[in-house]
Amino acid sequence: MVTTTTRGGGRTSSSSSLFSKLFPLKKAASSSSTTIIILRFFILLILFIFIFNFYTTRHILEDHQYLHPNLPQHFVSHQAPKQQLKLEKLWEAPFSDGLHSCLKPTSNYQAFQGGDHYITVRSNGGLNQMRTGIADMVAVARMMNATLVIPELDKRSFWQDKSIFSDIFDEDHFINSLKQDVRIIKKLPQELVSVPRARKHFTSWGGLDSRLANNDLPLDIQRLRCRALYHALRFSPSIETLGKKLVERLRSRGGRYISLHLRYEKDMLAFSGCTYGLSDSESEELRLLRENTNHWKVKKINSTEQRIAGLCPLTPKEVGIFLQALGYPPSTIVYVAAGEIYAHLSDLTSRFPNVLFKEMIATEEELRVYSNHASQTAALDYIISLESDVFIPTHSGNMARAVEGHRRLLGHRKTITPDRKGLVEIFDKLESGKLKEGVSLQHLVKRLHQKRQGAPRKREGAPDGIRGRARFKAEESFYQNPYPECICRSKHRT
Ligand SMILES: *[C@@H]1O[C@H](CO)[C@@H](O)[C@H](O)[C@H]1NC(C)=O
Ligand SMILES: *[C@@H]1O[C@H](CO)[C@@H](O)[C@H](O)[C@H]1NC(C)=O
Repeated sequence: MVTTTTRGGGRTSSSSSLFSKLFPLKKAASSSSTTIIILRFFILLILFIFIFNFYTTRHILEDHQYLHPNLPQHFVSHQAPKQQLKLEKLWEAPFSDGLHSCLKPTSNYQAFQGGDHYITVRSNGGLNQMRTGIADMVAVARMMNATLVIPELDKRSFWQDKSIFSDIFDEDHFINSLKQDVRIIKKLPQELVSVPRARKHFTSWGGLDSRLANNDLPLDIQRLRCRALYHALRFSPSIETLGKKLVERLRSRGGRYISLHLRYEKDMLAFSGCTYGLSDSESEELRLLRENTNHWKVKKINSTEQRIAGLCPLTPKEVGIFLQALGYPPSTIVYVAAGEIYAHLSDLTSRFPNVLFKEMIATEEELRVYSNHASQTAALDYIISLESDVFIPTHSGNMARAVEGHRRLLGHRKTITPDRKGLVEIFDKLESGKLKEGVSLQHLVKRLHQKRQGAPRKREGAPDGIRGRARFKAEESFYQNPYPECICRSKHRT
Protein backbone atom coordinates (compact mmCIF):
# COMPACT_ATOMS: atom_id res chain seq x y z
CA MET A 1 0.00 0.00 0.00
CA VAL A 2 2.93 2.30 0.44
CA THR A 3 3.25 2.11 -3.29
CA THR A 4 0.12 4.22 -3.66
CA THR A 5 2.21 7.18 -2.65
CA THR A 6 5.31 6.10 -4.47
CA ARG A 7 3.30 5.94 -7.64
CA GLY A 8 1.70 9.33 -7.27
CA GLY A 9 4.48 11.41 -5.86
CA GLY A 10 7.79 9.85 -6.67
CA ARG A 11 10.01 8.33 -4.07
CA THR A 12 9.20 8.82 -0.46
CA SER A 13 11.86 10.49 1.56
CA SER A 14 10.23 10.45 4.93
CA SER A 15 7.98 7.83 6.29
CA SER A 16 6.12 10.23 8.53
CA SER A 17 4.84 12.40 5.71
CA LEU A 18 4.02 9.27 3.85
CA PHE A 19 1.87 8.00 6.62
CA SER A 20 0.06 11.17 7.31
CA LYS A 21 -0.94 11.03 3.67
CA LEU A 22 -1.94 7.44 3.88
CA PHE A 23 -3.77 7.62 7.13
CA PRO A 24 -5.67 10.89 7.33
CA LEU A 25 -7.87 9.29 9.96
CA LYS A 26 -5.05 9.36 12.38
CA LYS A 27 -4.74 13.10 12.08
CA ALA A 28 -8.43 13.64 12.57
CA ALA A 29 -8.35 11.76 15.80
CA SER A 30 -5.13 13.12 17.17
CA SER A 31 -6.89 15.25 19.75
CA SER A 32 -8.00 12.24 21.70
CA SER A 33 -5.28 10.76 23.80
CA THR A 34 -5.61 7.37 22.26
CA THR A 35 -6.42 6.35 18.79
CA ILE A 36 -6.70 2.82 17.80
CA ILE A 37 -6.19 1.87 14.31
CA ILE A 38 -7.32 -1.43 13.12
CA LEU A 39 -5.65 -2.70 10.08
CA ARG A 40 -7.47 -5.51 8.60
CA PHE A 41 -6.17 -7.25 5.62
CA PHE A 42 -8.32 -9.72 3.91
CA ILE A 43 -6.86 -11.25 0.91
CA LEU A 44 -7.93 -13.49 -1.86
CA LEU A 45 -7.86 -16.93 -0.43
CA ILE A 46 -5.47 -19.12 -2.25
CA LEU A 47 -6.30 -22.35 -0.70
CA PHE A 48 -3.86 -24.81 0.60
CA ILE A 49 -5.27 -27.93 2.08
CA PHE A 50 -3.17 -30.00 4.32
CA ILE A 51 -4.98 -33.19 4.97
CA PHE A 52 -3.23 -35.99 6.64
CA ASN A 53 -2.74 -38.90 4.46
CA PHE A 54 -1.50 -42.14 5.78
CA TYR A 55 0.88 -43.94 3.55
CA THR A 56 2.46 -47.15 4.46
CA THR A 57 6.12 -46.88 5.14
CA ARG A 58 8.07 -47.97 2.14
CA HIS A 59 11.31 -49.76 2.28
CA ILE A 60 14.29 -47.55 1.57
CA LEU A 61 16.17 -48.87 -1.40
CA GLU A 62 19.88 -48.46 -1.67
CA ASP A 63 21.60 -47.46 -4.89
CA HIS A 64 23.29 -50.78 -5.33
CA GLN A 65 20.00 -52.60 -4.97
CA TYR A 66 18.21 -50.45 -7.45
CA LEU A 67 20.71 -49.26 -10.01
CA HIS A 68 21.86 -51.70 -12.64
CA PRO A 69 21.18 -54.89 -10.70
CA ASN A 70 22.79 -56.94 -13.49
CA LEU A 71 25.83 -54.84 -14.08
CA PRO A 72 29.15 -56.65 -13.74
CA GLN A 73 31.05 -55.53 -10.67
CA HIS A 74 34.19 -54.28 -12.45
CA PHE A 75 32.10 -51.94 -14.59
CA VAL A 76 30.55 -50.34 -11.55
CA SER A 77 33.84 -49.76 -9.78
CA HIS A 78 35.46 -48.43 -12.95
CA GLN A 79 32.71 -45.81 -13.24
CA ALA A 80 32.70 -44.91 -9.60
CA PRO A 81 35.03 -41.87 -9.25
CA LYS A 82 33.50 -39.96 -12.16
CA GLN A 83 29.97 -40.86 -11.10
CA GLN A 84 30.81 -39.75 -7.61
CA LEU A 85 31.96 -36.34 -8.78
CA LYS A 86 28.80 -35.87 -10.82
CA LEU A 87 26.69 -36.85 -7.83
CA GLU A 88 28.46 -34.34 -5.61
CA LYS A 89 27.65 -31.56 -8.05
CA LEU A 90 23.94 -32.36 -7.76
CA TRP A 91 23.98 -31.46 -4.10
CA GLU A 92 26.36 -28.56 -4.10
CA ALA A 93 25.05 -25.12 -3.16
CA PRO A 94 25.60 -22.45 -5.78
CA PHE A 95 28.63 -20.18 -5.45
CA SER A 96 27.57 -17.45 -3.03
CA ASP A 97 30.38 -15.07 -3.90
CA GLY A 98 31.16 -13.83 -0.40
CA LEU A 99 27.62 -12.66 0.19
CA HIS A 100 25.87 -13.07 3.50
CA SER A 101 22.84 -11.81 5.32
CA CYS A 102 22.95 -8.24 6.63
CA LEU A 103 19.96 -7.48 8.77
CA LYS A 104 21.33 -4.97 11.27
CA PRO A 105 19.97 -1.44 11.06
CA THR A 106 22.09 1.37 9.60
CA SER A 107 23.74 3.93 11.90
CA ASN A 108 20.84 6.35 11.30
CA TYR A 109 18.35 4.01 12.84
CA GLN A 110 16.87 5.15 16.11
CA ALA A 111 15.49 2.94 18.79
CA PHE A 112 11.73 2.88 18.98
CA GLN A 113 10.30 6.06 20.51
CA GLY A 114 6.85 4.96 21.34
CA GLY A 115 3.54 6.58 20.61
CA ASP A 116 0.02 6.31 21.82
CA HIS A 117 -1.40 4.53 18.82
CA TYR A 118 -2.22 0.89 18.64
CA ILE A 119 -2.47 -1.38 15.67
CA THR A 120 -4.48 -4.54 15.85
CA VAL A 121 -4.11 -6.89 12.95
CA ARG A 122 -6.19 -9.72 11.69
CA SER A 123 -4.44 -11.85 9.14
CA ASN A 124 -5.64 -14.76 7.14
CA GLY A 125 -4.56 -17.08 4.40
CA GLY A 126 -2.01 -19.84 4.54
CA LEU A 127 1.00 -19.94 6.81
CA ASN A 128 3.34 -18.04 4.54
CA GLN A 129 0.78 -15.47 3.56
CA MET A 130 0.33 -14.78 7.27
CA ARG A 131 4.05 -14.69 7.98
CA THR A 132 4.86 -12.14 5.31
CA GLY A 133 1.74 -10.16 6.19
CA ILE A 134 2.79 -10.00 9.83
CA ALA A 135 6.35 -8.98 8.95
CA ASP A 136 4.90 -6.16 6.87
CA MET A 137 2.69 -5.03 9.75
CA VAL A 138 5.74 -4.83 11.99
CA ALA A 139 7.20 -2.39 9.48
CA VAL A 140 3.93 -0.45 9.31
CA ALA A 141 3.81 -0.19 13.11
CA ARG A 142 7.37 1.11 13.11
CA MET A 143 6.62 3.74 10.50
CA MET A 144 3.53 4.85 12.40
CA ASN A 145 5.18 4.84 15.83
CA ALA A 146 2.40 2.53 16.91
CA THR A 147 2.22 -0.33 19.36
CA LEU A 148 1.47 -3.59 17.64
CA VAL A 149 -0.94 -5.99 19.30
CA ILE A 150 -0.11 -9.65 18.63
CA PRO A 151 -1.98 -10.45 15.40
CA GLU A 152 -5.16 -12.40 15.45
CA LEU A 153 -5.28 -15.29 13.02
CA ASP A 154 -8.52 -15.89 11.21
CA LYS A 155 -10.28 -18.99 12.43
CA ARG A 156 -13.29 -18.94 10.18
CA SER A 157 -11.44 -19.14 6.90
CA PHE A 158 -11.40 -22.10 4.60
CA TRP A 159 -8.52 -23.48 6.61
CA GLN A 160 -10.61 -24.27 9.64
CA ASP A 161 -7.47 -23.93 11.66
CA LYS A 162 -8.13 -22.73 15.19
CA SER A 163 -4.49 -22.00 15.91
CA ILE A 164 -3.72 -18.77 17.66
CA PHE A 165 -0.47 -16.85 17.24
CA SER A 166 1.33 -18.58 20.09
CA ASP A 167 0.38 -22.03 18.76
CA ILE A 168 2.41 -21.36 15.64
CA PHE A 169 5.00 -18.80 16.71
CA ASP A 170 7.23 -18.21 19.69
CA GLU A 171 5.36 -15.20 21.02
CA ASP A 172 7.86 -14.04 23.65
CA HIS A 173 10.72 -14.32 21.22
CA PHE A 174 8.74 -12.28 18.69
CA ILE A 175 8.16 -9.50 21.22
CA ASN A 176 11.68 -9.47 22.65
CA SER A 177 13.66 -9.71 19.48
CA LEU A 178 11.91 -6.64 18.02
CA LYS A 179 12.21 -4.60 21.22
CA GLN A 180 14.46 -2.02 19.56
CA ASP A 181 12.09 -1.65 16.63
CA VAL A 182 8.52 -1.64 17.83
CA ARG A 183 6.54 -2.19 20.98
CA ILE A 184 4.49 -5.34 20.76
CA ILE A 185 1.93 -6.32 23.36
CA LYS A 186 -0.05 -9.50 23.78
CA LYS A 187 -3.45 -7.96 24.28
CA LEU A 188 -5.11 -4.64 23.72
CA PRO A 189 -5.54 -2.97 27.15
CA GLN A 190 -9.05 -3.61 28.45
CA GLU A 191 -9.97 0.10 28.58
CA LEU A 192 -9.25 0.45 24.86
CA VAL A 193 -11.28 -2.47 23.61
CA SER A 194 -14.39 -0.40 22.99
CA VAL A 195 -12.66 2.74 21.67
CA PRO A 196 -13.56 3.52 18.04
CA ARG A 197 -11.01 2.37 15.52
CA ALA A 198 -10.02 3.38 12.06
CA ARG A 199 -9.90 0.47 9.70
CA LYS A 200 -7.65 -0.26 6.84
CA HIS A 201 -8.18 -3.18 4.58
CA PHE A 202 -4.93 -4.28 3.01
CA THR A 203 -4.76 -6.03 -0.27
CA SER A 204 -1.63 -7.66 -1.46
CA TRP A 205 0.81 -5.99 -3.78
CA GLY A 206 3.75 -8.15 -4.35
CA GLY A 207 4.01 -11.62 -5.74
CA LEU A 208 4.29 -13.09 -2.28
CA ASP A 209 1.04 -11.53 -1.13
CA SER A 210 2.95 -9.02 0.89
CA ARG A 211 1.17 -5.81 1.82
CA LEU A 212 4.04 -3.43 1.44
CA ALA A 213 5.69 -2.60 -1.84
CA ASN A 214 8.66 -4.72 -2.85
CA ASN A 215 10.91 -1.83 -3.75
CA ASP A 216 11.74 1.81 -3.02
CA LEU A 217 11.20 1.65 0.73
CA PRO A 218 13.84 3.01 3.13
CA LEU A 219 16.69 0.55 3.68
CA ASP A 220 16.02 0.32 7.40
CA ILE A 221 12.40 -0.57 6.81
CA GLN A 222 13.42 -3.32 4.39
CA ARG A 223 15.88 -4.71 6.92
CA LEU A 224 13.25 -4.58 9.61
CA ARG A 225 10.97 -6.66 7.41
CA CYS A 226 13.76 -9.20 7.13
CA ARG A 227 14.45 -9.23 10.87
CA ALA A 228 10.76 -9.67 11.53
CA LEU A 229 10.31 -12.52 9.06
CA TYR A 230 13.56 -14.41 9.41
CA HIS A 231 14.43 -13.87 13.05
CA ALA A 232 11.46 -12.71 15.05
CA LEU A 233 8.80 -14.97 13.58
CA ARG A 234 10.36 -18.16 14.86
CA PHE A 235 8.03 -21.12 15.14
CA SER A 236 6.83 -22.26 18.54
CA PRO A 237 9.31 -24.43 20.47
CA SER A 238 7.28 -27.60 19.96
CA ILE A 239 7.11 -27.09 16.18
CA GLU A 240 10.82 -26.23 16.00
CA THR A 241 11.72 -29.30 18.02
CA LEU A 242 9.67 -31.72 15.96
CA GLY A 243 10.80 -30.07 12.71
CA LYS A 244 14.46 -30.53 13.65
CA LYS A 245 13.81 -34.11 14.71
CA LEU A 246 12.24 -34.89 11.35
CA VAL A 247 15.17 -33.33 9.52
CA GLU A 248 17.53 -35.56 11.52
CA ARG A 249 15.47 -38.63 10.68
CA LEU A 250 15.56 -37.81 7.00
CA ARG A 251 19.32 -37.35 7.18
CA SER A 252 19.79 -40.60 9.02
CA ARG A 253 18.13 -42.40 6.11
CA GLY A 254 20.37 -41.21 3.34
CA GLY A 255 22.47 -38.27 4.46
CA ARG A 256 21.07 -35.84 1.95
CA TYR A 257 17.58 -35.18 0.74
CA ILE A 258 15.51 -33.17 -1.68
CA SER A 259 12.47 -31.38 -0.36
CA LEU A 260 9.87 -31.39 -3.09
CA HIS A 261 6.99 -28.97 -2.75
CA LEU A 262 4.65 -31.09 -4.83
CA ARG A 263 1.66 -28.82 -5.31
CA TYR A 264 -0.32 -31.56 -7.01
CA GLU A 265 -3.15 -31.17 -4.56
CA LYS A 266 -6.85 -31.08 -5.24
CA ASP A 267 -7.40 -27.44 -4.34
CA MET A 268 -4.52 -26.26 -6.50
CA LEU A 269 -5.59 -28.32 -9.51
CA ALA A 270 -9.19 -27.20 -9.20
CA PHE A 271 -8.22 -23.57 -8.72
CA SER A 272 -5.73 -23.46 -11.59
CA GLY A 273 -7.84 -25.58 -13.93
CA CYS A 274 -4.93 -27.88 -14.69
CA THR A 275 -6.18 -31.31 -15.69
CA TYR A 276 -3.36 -32.53 -17.89
CA GLY A 277 -2.77 -36.24 -17.42
CA LEU A 278 -5.98 -36.76 -15.45
CA SER A 279 -8.91 -38.95 -16.42
CA ASP A 280 -12.23 -37.46 -17.51
CA SER A 281 -13.87 -38.24 -14.19
CA GLU A 282 -10.98 -36.69 -12.26
CA SER A 283 -11.17 -33.58 -14.43
CA GLU A 284 -14.89 -33.35 -13.87
CA GLU A 285 -14.48 -33.65 -10.11
CA LEU A 286 -12.05 -30.74 -10.14
CA ARG A 287 -14.31 -28.66 -12.40
CA LEU A 288 -17.21 -29.14 -9.98
CA LEU A 289 -15.04 -28.15 -7.02
CA ARG A 290 -14.08 -24.95 -8.83
CA GLU A 291 -17.68 -24.31 -9.85
CA ASN A 292 -18.82 -24.63 -6.25
CA THR A 293 -16.12 -22.56 -4.60
CA ASN A 294 -17.53 -19.04 -4.56
CA HIS A 295 -14.36 -17.10 -3.95
CA TRP A 296 -12.62 -18.61 -6.96
CA LYS A 297 -13.76 -16.15 -9.56
CA VAL A 298 -12.43 -17.71 -12.74
CA LYS A 299 -14.63 -20.65 -13.66
CA LYS A 300 -13.89 -21.38 -17.31
CA ILE A 301 -10.30 -22.44 -17.78
CA ASN A 302 -8.70 -24.09 -20.79
CA SER A 303 -6.25 -26.53 -19.25
CA THR A 304 -4.17 -26.82 -22.41
CA GLU A 305 -3.60 -23.10 -22.56
CA GLN A 306 -2.76 -22.92 -18.85
CA ARG A 307 -0.20 -25.63 -19.25
CA ILE A 308 1.45 -24.19 -22.36
CA ALA A 309 1.79 -20.86 -20.55
CA GLY A 310 3.70 -22.64 -17.77
CA LEU A 311 1.00 -22.05 -15.18
CA CYS A 312 0.34 -25.62 -14.10
CA PRO A 313 2.06 -27.47 -11.28
CA LEU A 314 4.22 -30.30 -12.57
CA THR A 315 2.51 -33.69 -12.43
CA PRO A 316 4.09 -36.50 -10.39
CA LYS A 317 5.18 -38.12 -13.65
CA GLU A 318 6.75 -34.91 -14.93
CA VAL A 319 8.59 -34.45 -11.63
CA GLY A 320 9.99 -37.97 -11.96
CA ILE A 321 11.27 -37.31 -15.48
CA PHE A 322 12.62 -33.94 -14.39
CA LEU A 323 14.58 -35.24 -11.39
CA GLN A 324 15.98 -38.11 -13.41
CA ALA A 325 17.01 -35.81 -16.25
CA LEU A 326 18.82 -33.58 -13.76
CA GLY A 327 20.82 -36.66 -12.81
CA TYR A 328 19.42 -37.61 -9.40
CA PRO A 329 19.75 -41.37 -8.86
CA PRO A 330 16.66 -43.46 -8.05
CA SER A 331 17.84 -43.97 -4.48
CA THR A 332 17.52 -40.22 -3.75
CA ILE A 333 15.51 -39.38 -0.66
CA VAL A 334 12.66 -37.14 -1.78
CA TYR A 335 10.62 -35.59 1.00
CA VAL A 336 7.21 -34.41 -0.20
CA ALA A 337 6.38 -31.14 1.53
CA ALA A 338 2.65 -31.09 0.84
CA GLY A 339 -0.66 -32.42 1.98
CA GLU A 340 -2.56 -35.03 0.08
CA ILE A 341 -1.36 -35.63 -3.47
CA TYR A 342 -4.39 -35.77 -5.72
CA ALA A 343 -3.51 -38.65 -8.00
CA HIS A 344 -0.89 -40.61 -9.89
CA LEU A 345 1.79 -40.54 -7.23
CA SER A 346 2.96 -43.93 -8.45
CA ASP A 347 4.25 -42.21 -11.60
CA LEU A 348 6.81 -40.59 -9.34
CA THR A 349 7.51 -43.46 -6.95
CA SER A 350 8.16 -45.83 -9.84
CA ARG A 351 11.24 -43.74 -10.60
CA PHE A 352 12.03 -42.59 -7.06
CA PRO A 353 10.94 -45.25 -4.59
CA ASN A 354 12.31 -43.32 -1.61
CA VAL A 355 9.57 -40.70 -1.69
CA LEU A 356 8.72 -39.86 1.90
CA PHE A 357 5.85 -38.06 3.58
CA LYS A 358 5.78 -36.70 7.08
CA GLU A 359 3.54 -39.58 8.10
CA MET A 360 6.42 -41.91 7.25
CA ILE A 361 9.04 -40.16 9.34
CA ALA A 362 6.94 -39.05 12.31
CA THR A 363 4.89 -41.23 14.62
CA GLU A 364 1.12 -40.96 14.85
CA GLU A 365 1.61 -39.73 18.38
CA GLU A 366 3.91 -36.93 17.25
CA LEU A 367 1.50 -35.79 14.56
CA ARG A 368 -1.69 -36.05 16.58
CA VAL A 369 -1.54 -32.51 17.92
CA TYR A 370 -1.19 -31.19 14.38
CA SER A 371 -4.28 -32.76 12.89
CA ASN A 372 -6.75 -30.06 11.86
CA HIS A 373 -4.04 -27.45 12.21
CA ALA A 374 -3.00 -26.84 8.64
CA SER A 375 -0.73 -23.92 9.49
CA GLN A 376 1.23 -25.86 12.07
CA THR A 377 1.65 -28.77 9.68
CA ALA A 378 2.81 -26.32 7.03
CA ALA A 379 5.36 -25.00 9.52
CA LEU A 380 6.88 -28.49 9.77
CA ASP A 381 7.12 -28.63 5.98
CA TYR A 382 8.69 -25.19 6.03
CA ILE A 383 11.43 -26.26 8.43
CA ILE A 384 12.15 -29.47 6.53
CA SER A 385 12.27 -27.56 3.24
CA LEU A 386 14.48 -24.83 4.64
CA GLU A 387 16.99 -27.37 5.92
CA SER A 388 16.97 -29.61 2.86
CA ASP A 389 20.03 -29.93 0.64
CA VAL A 390 17.93 -29.15 -2.41
CA PHE A 391 14.53 -27.53 -2.49
CA ILE A 392 12.36 -27.96 -5.58
CA PRO A 393 8.97 -26.29 -5.82
CA THR A 394 6.69 -27.62 -8.57
CA HIS A 395 4.51 -24.54 -8.60
CA SER A 396 5.13 -20.95 -7.67
CA GLY A 397 3.20 -19.93 -4.60
CA ASN A 398 3.64 -18.36 -1.21
CA MET A 399 5.38 -21.34 0.33
CA ALA A 400 7.72 -21.83 -2.63
CA ARG A 401 8.73 -18.18 -2.69
CA ALA A 402 9.09 -17.79 1.06
CA VAL A 403 11.32 -20.84 1.34
CA GLU A 404 13.38 -19.74 -1.66
CA GLY A 405 13.99 -16.29 -0.14
CA HIS A 406 14.91 -17.70 3.24
CA ARG A 407 17.34 -20.15 1.66
CA ARG A 408 18.99 -17.30 -0.21
CA LEU A 409 19.41 -15.44 3.05
CA LEU A 410 20.93 -18.47 4.77
CA GLY A 411 23.75 -18.66 2.24
CA HIS A 412 22.18 -19.39 -1.11
CA ARG A 413 21.19 -22.94 -0.44
CA LYS A 414 20.28 -24.80 -3.59
CA THR A 415 16.76 -24.16 -4.85
CA ILE A 416 15.95 -25.52 -8.28
CA THR A 417 13.01 -23.69 -9.81
CA PRO A 418 11.59 -25.65 -12.72
CA ASP A 419 11.14 -23.68 -15.92
CA ARG A 420 7.64 -24.96 -16.39
CA LYS A 421 7.05 -23.33 -19.73
CA GLY A 422 10.24 -24.74 -21.18
CA LEU A 423 9.64 -28.13 -19.60
CA VAL A 424 6.16 -28.44 -21.07
CA GLU A 425 7.67 -28.15 -24.55
CA ILE A 426 10.15 -30.88 -23.71
CA PHE A 427 7.52 -33.15 -22.13
CA ASP A 428 5.29 -32.75 -25.16
CA LYS A 429 8.15 -33.79 -27.42
CA LEU A 430 8.62 -36.88 -25.26
CA GLU A 431 4.92 -37.60 -25.46
CA SER A 432 4.85 -37.34 -29.24
CA GLY A 433 7.99 -39.43 -29.62
CA LYS A 434 10.10 -36.59 -31.07
CA LEU A 435 12.44 -36.91 -28.12
CA LYS A 436 13.53 -39.94 -26.11
CA GLU A 437 14.59 -40.15 -22.50
CA GLY A 438 18.34 -40.30 -22.24
CA VAL A 439 21.37 -38.16 -22.88
CA SER A 440 19.77 -35.53 -25.10
CA LEU A 441 16.85 -35.05 -22.73
CA GLN A 442 19.30 -34.67 -19.84
CA HIS A 443 21.26 -32.13 -21.81
CA LEU A 444 18.15 -30.06 -22.59
CA VAL A 445 16.82 -30.11 -19.05
CA LYS A 446 20.18 -29.31 -17.46
CA ARG A 447 20.80 -26.42 -19.82
CA LEU A 448 17.36 -25.00 -19.13
CA HIS A 449 18.07 -25.02 -15.39
CA GLN A 450 21.68 -23.93 -15.25
CA LYS A 451 20.68 -20.49 -13.98
CA ARG A 452 17.73 -21.59 -11.87
CA GLN A 453 19.55 -23.04 -8.88
CA GLY A 454 19.27 -20.23 -6.38
CA ALA A 455 22.59 -18.48 -7.07
CA PRO A 456 22.87 -14.87 -5.90
CA ARG A 457 21.33 -12.20 -8.08
CA LYS A 458 19.55 -8.95 -7.43
CA ARG A 459 15.80 -8.94 -7.20
CA GLU A 460 14.18 -8.48 -10.57
CA GLY A 461 11.91 -5.58 -11.43
CA ALA A 462 8.85 -5.88 -13.60
CA PRO A 463 9.50 -6.64 -17.25
CA ASP A 464 9.43 -3.64 -19.60
CA GLY A 465 6.10 -2.80 -21.08
CA ILE A 466 4.02 -3.55 -18.00
CA ARG A 467 2.39 -0.39 -16.72
CA GLY A 468 0.56 0.85 -13.67
CA ARG A 469 -0.53 -1.40 -10.87
CA ALA A 470 0.34 -4.51 -12.82
CA ARG A 471 4.01 -3.62 -12.45
CA PHE A 472 3.93 -4.32 -8.74
CA LYS A 473 2.50 -7.76 -9.29
CA ALA A 474 5.04 -8.56 -11.99
CA GLU A 475 8.05 -7.67 -9.85
CA GLU A 476 9.96 -10.36 -8.07
CA SER A 477 8.75 -10.31 -4.51
CA PHE A 478 10.86 -8.82 -1.74
CA TYR A 479 10.64 -11.91 0.43
CA GLN A 480 11.46 -14.22 -2.45
CA ASN A 481 14.77 -12.48 -2.96
CA PRO A 482 15.76 -9.92 -0.31
CA TYR A 483 18.95 -9.07 -2.21
CA PRO A 484 20.34 -6.34 -2.13
CA GLU A 485 18.76 -4.95 1.08
CA CYS A 486 19.27 -7.95 3.40
CA ILE A 487 22.04 -9.77 1.59
CA CYS A 488 25.33 -7.99 1.06
CA ARG A 489 29.05 -8.17 0.97
CA SER A 490 30.02 -5.84 3.82
CA LYS A 491 33.16 -6.61 5.79
CA HIS A 492 31.34 -7.19 8.99
CA ARG A 493 28.77 -9.86 9.16
CA THR A 494 25.64 -8.40 10.67
C1 LIG B 1 7.47 9.03 15.10
O1 LIG B 1 8.24 9.54 16.14
C2 LIG B 1 9.37 10.29 15.75
C3 LIG B 1 10.17 10.64 16.99
O2 LIG B 1 9.36 10.94 18.06
C4 LIG B 1 8.93 11.49 14.94
O3 LIG B 1 10.04 12.20 14.50
C5 LIG B 1 8.10 11.04 13.75
O4 LIG B 1 7.59 12.14 13.06
C6 LIG B 1 6.96 10.16 14.20
N1 LIG B 1 6.30 9.59 13.04
C7 LIG B 1 4.98 9.55 12.89
C8 LIG B 1 4.48 8.93 11.63
O5 LIG B 1 4.21 9.98 13.71
C1 LIG C 1 -8.12 -25.09 -25.49
O1 LIG C 1 -7.04 -24.43 -26.11
C2 LIG C 1 -6.40 -25.18 -27.14
C3 LIG C 1 -5.14 -24.43 -27.55
O2 LIG C 1 -5.41 -23.06 -27.75
C4 LIG C 1 -7.38 -25.42 -28.26
O3 LIG C 1 -6.78 -26.18 -29.29
C5 LIG C 1 -8.60 -26.16 -27.71
O4 LIG C 1 -9.58 -26.33 -28.71
C6 LIG C 1 -9.19 -25.43 -26.50
N1 LIG C 1 -10.20 -26.28 -25.89
C7 LIG C 1 -11.41 -25.87 -25.61
C8 LIG C 1 -12.32 -26.85 -24.98
O5 LIG C 1 -11.77 -24.73 -25.86
